[in-house]
Amino acid sequence: MSKLVVRGGRVLSGRVRVSGAKNAALAILCASVMAQSDVSLENIPKIEDLRVMTELIKSIGAVLKWTEDDSLTISMPDAYTGMPTYALAKKLRASNLLIGPMLARFGRAEICLPGGCDIGLRPMDLHFKGFAALGARMVLEKGIMKAEAGHLKGARVYLDFPSVGATENIMMAACLARGQTVIENCAKEPEIVDLASFLNCLGGKVRGAGTDIIKIEGVEYLNGCTHYNVIPDRIEAGTFMIAAAATGGDIKLENVIPLHVEPLSAKLREAGLEVIEEEDSLRIRVVDDLRSLDIKTMPYPGFPTDLQSQMMTLLSTAPGTSEIIENIFENRFRVADELRRMGAAIKVKGRMALIRGVPKLYGAQVRATDLRAGAALVVAGLMAEGETEISGSDYIDRGYYKLEDKLSSLGGSVFRS
Ligand code: EPZ
Repeated sequence: MSKLVVRGGRVLSGRVRVSGAKNAALAILCASVMAQSDVSLENIPKIEDLRVMTELIKSIGAVLKWTEDDSLTISMPDAYTGMPTYALAKKLRASNLLIGPMLARFGRAEICLPGGCDIGLRPMDLHFKGFAALGARMVLEKGIMKAEAGHLKGARVYLDFPSVGATENIMMAACLARGQTVIENCAKEPEIVDLASFLNCLGGKVRGAGTDIIKIEGVEYLNGCTHYNVIPDRIEAGTFMIAAAATGGDIKLENVIPLHVEPLSAKLREAGLEVIEEEDSLRIRVVDDLRSLDIKTMPYPGFPTDLQSQMMTLLSTAPGTSEIIENIFENRFRVADELRRMGAAIKVKGRMALIRGVPKLYGAQVRATDLRAGAALVVAGLMAEGETEISGSDYIDRGYYKLEDKLSSLGGSVFRS
C-alpha cells in the first residue's frame, strides 16, 4: 500500500481546478452500455474507481478508448460477451449500477454483488424492489445476482429511503421498459440530475430528476451521444474548501457549481469563513476564528455524508464542542480513531460524535480506512504540527485525481512515499 506524507503548518492559497464528478461519471459510464451507437464523454476524472469501471465495462464486451486527458469513447455491441469477474466487481461498489442497464438492454444481468465496506452494510434491497416491480426475476446464487426479464414493464416504485444507487439503477432500467415508470421518494443528488440529462441525450424520456418524483417514459432504444460533459465533483470541491478552512487559507476553486456545494458553504459561513460564489467558481477564505458547530448528514440537499469525515477533522480544533450526527451510513466515524492519534478529543456513540476542540493536532502515523476518511487525514496532516504519514492512500486515489499535486500547487507539502 502506498503512503502519503503531509507536512503541516502551511497556509493554502491560490487557485485549483476541480475534476469531473466521480459519482456522476460512474453512473453515466454504466448507462452508456444501453446506447446502440457510440458515446463520447468529457470531464471524466482519471481516478482508480473510473479505471476499474472501464475494466468492468470492457469485461462485458464494450470497447472503450481514452481520447484526450479526460475524454472517453464507449461503444457497446448488441450482445454482451462476458460477465465481470468477482475480483473486479468487488473492487467497486458502483459495479452494481450495471444491473439496471444490462437488464434493460439485454434482458438479463449476472453480476457479483459488491460486498459491504468500511462505512456500512450497504444492502441492495431497494434496487431489487425496483427491478422486481419492473418485471425482473432475480436469483442470488453464491454471491452472484442473476436477473432475467423478458421486456421490462413500467411500474410505480416507492423507495423507503432516497437511495442514490437504487434511484440510478431503476431510472436506467426504466428507460427501455414498456410504458411509464414513476419513482417516488427518490434521491435528488446532482449526480442523479446529471445521469437523467445524459439519458435524455441518448433519447431517453426522464422527467423530474432533482425532485422527489421521477417519471420515465420507456422508449424502444437509446442512441449514442457526443461530447457529454460530466458535472464537476462537489465532494472534491468540498474537500478543498475544508482544507483551506483548516489551514487558515484563501483559495479559489475553478470548474465548480456553487449550488452543489451550498450545504457545505452554509455550514462554513456559520463556522466563520467567507465564501464568495461566482458563475462556475468559488472563493473561500478565513476571516475569523473558527467556530464550533453541529452537523447532521442528510440526503441532498442536506449536508453530504461524503464530507462528514473532513468536517470532523476541521472541527477538531474549533473552540468548544461540536456535534456530528451521521444519518446515512452506520459506520462512518472510523476516522475518529486516527484523529485521536493526532491529539483530537472525539467521543463516538452510535450515530453521534462529539468533538471537543483542542488547541492543535500533531503529526502521526495514521491509516486510511475508506476514501473520505483518507481525505480527512490529509486535511488533518495539513493542519497538524509536524509530519503525518498516511498509509492506505490507495483509498484516496480511488476518488481524488492527483490530490498531492493539487494541494502542493496551493502551497501544501504533500508527497507520495
Ligand atoms: C452513493 O452510494 C455514493 N456512491 C456514495 O459515495 C455516497 O456516500 C452515497 O451515495 C450517499 O450519498 C456512488 O455514487 C458510487 P445509497 P450508494 O444507496 O448509492 C441504504 C463516496 O465516497 N440503502 O444512497 O451506495 C444504505 O445502506 C461514496 O464517493 C439501503 O438500505 O448510497 C445507506 O445506509 C461513498 N438499501 C443509505 O441507504 C438499498 O437498496 C444510502 O445509500 C440501498 C441503500
